[in-house]
Amino acid sequence: MKESFKKYIPFKQIDLPDRQWPSKVITKAPTWCSVDLRDGNQALIDPMNLQEKLEFFKALCDMGFKEIEIGFPSASETEYEICRELIEGNHIPDDVSIQVLVQAREHLIRKTFEAIKGAKNVIVHFYNSTSTLQRKVVFKKDMTGIIDIAVQGAALIKELTDSYEGDTNIRFEYSPESFSGTEMDNAVEICKEVMDAIGATKENPLILNLPNTVEMCTANTYADQVEYFIRHLPNRDAAIISIHPHNDRGCGVAASELALLAGAERVEGTLFGNGERTGNLDIVTMGLNMFTQGVDPQLDFSNLPKYKGIYERCTNMKIHERTPYIGELVFTAFSGSHQDAINKGMEYMKQSGTDYWEIPYLPIDPADVGRQYEPIIRINSQSGKGGAAFVMAHNYGYNLPKAMHPEFSGLVQEDCDKKGRELVSHELLKIFEDNYINFPRKYEIVGHPTVIEEGSDGNKIKLTAILRTDGDSKTDIQISGEGNGPIDAFFHGLKGFGIDKYQFVDYSQHAISTGSDSKAVSYIQLKKPDGNNIFGVGISSNIYRSSIFGVLNAINRAEGQK
Ligand code: KIV
Ligand code: ZN
Repeated sequence: MKESFKKYIPFKQIDLPDRQWPSKVITKAPTWCSVDLRDGNQALIDPMNLQEKLEFFKALCDMGFKEIEIGFPSASETEYEICRELIEGNHIPDDVSIQVLVQAREHLIRKTFEAIKGAKNVIVHFYNSTSTLQRKVVFKKDMTGIIDIAVQGAALIKELTDSYEGDTNIRFEYSPESFSGTEMDNAVEICKEVMDAIGATKENPLILNLPNTVEMCTANTYADQVEYFIRHLPNRDAAIISIHPHNDRGCGVAASELALLAGAERVEGTLFGNGERTGNLDIVTMGLNMFTQGVDPQLDFSNLPKYKGIYERCTNMKIHERTPYIGELVFTAFSGSHQDAINKGMEYMKQSGTDYWEIPYLPIDPADVGRQYEPIIRINSQSGKGGAAFVMAHNYGYNLPKAMHPEFSGLVQEDCDKKGRELVSHELLKIFEDNYINFPRKYEIVGHPTVIEEGSDGNKIKLTAILRTDGDSKTDIQISGEGNGPIDAFFHGLKGFGIDKYQFVDYSQHAISTGSDSKAVSYIQLKKPDGNNIFGVGISSNIYRSSIFGVLNAINRAEGQK
């Protein structure tokens, strides 16, 4: 058992010492072809029914796909009927080509030509398997026999096209299936023969699709294969080089990206990587990788959650929480240092007015894929001090002063520990409201305090207010004081009443909009007799009152702690 790795044959490297692709860069989108309705569909436990295929097809058109492989119409009556409904029901936009897959076998090719009648634009995609292993264990044929199958298929397709009656614009695609397991010179030879048999020209090129049918090598080796193939193919201009990567080693996207560098012009794949075994290339990830490098992918990903919904409903597959760009958790930062950095990035973008997306830990603006900032951060007991403050600022508009962050995050952590789970943003708001807005009022101001400003800059304040204790109106007492500002004046008033053990440390204020009107929110920092700080928050449409309420909230909280 320990040595069982020895039964695997290492993949043979490609002899291409002067490979060019490593110094290339992706600068434009390839032609995309979705194979969701064929390769993706054939790998489902319950293949899509007609309604589901129609819904999926429409979604692909809406995203901007211009080439869509709709199925294998010669394989079953259902597949045939779906093809007919797409055509007869006028579901195919004029600028979209449907692609139909067929093995290079006579009766299947003939049936395929019947299935496409009346369509406007069709790609007839024929294939046969060419790999060393398939030739040895499945077909038991040498390469000449395999080339014969492909050439006969190509010749029949040409004949049926030449005698086709109707307005259909027919193009061709040939796949040497299991290309990546084929000796490269054999792959080149069979494709050259097929090009000749079908009469490929620069004006009417043949799509040569090079499948990584089973991903068996590192991404760089697949890129070597593609570059080798292109450099050795005669009459290169009469071909469009397409790739069709699968994801068995989990590197489908990487292999596709490197294959583009190697010269591929067209890419076949599926949404979210559905497909045989580990799936096909995930076009969403590959397209958005381009997008985040400043390259227009020519597909619309701006409402990804909508497409996720359609995908999950039609395929009955689930998208993993960590799937790039669309997984439920990909815009959630758990670590405190990540949260702080995101917070700072947001602040930087606001302050600097930069045209670029410059936020650490978020490689893409969630809004660009139809996601929201709201769930970016969830708070758990490991979250840093800034994380909770970020949610309060970002989601609710409360800009807690920095000195208050440790106190508020302490309250959040306490609640996390009590609940034994992470908190979501509205639970943070509740903690804030319970502690600062609705905290039980040992002392409260009844009615409106009178504030008289004196001095040209309004710095001198005379303040009079009715103070009630423990909600008992019989305790109501008028306090008054003078000071350099409302807080100072209020403190003097409280002193006269005997509340004199708290020291004022600092305050900050800002406006907060509450629907139609705007209010002032004040954060007051006091020092308690034990030397520790405590914060209070006051909210009012009047700026003086908001600071007075903040002072009282801090005192009430301090008294409540005894
Ligand atoms: O993976 C593959 O090789 C295929 C071919 C039929 C193109 O799906
Ligand atoms: Zn495939």
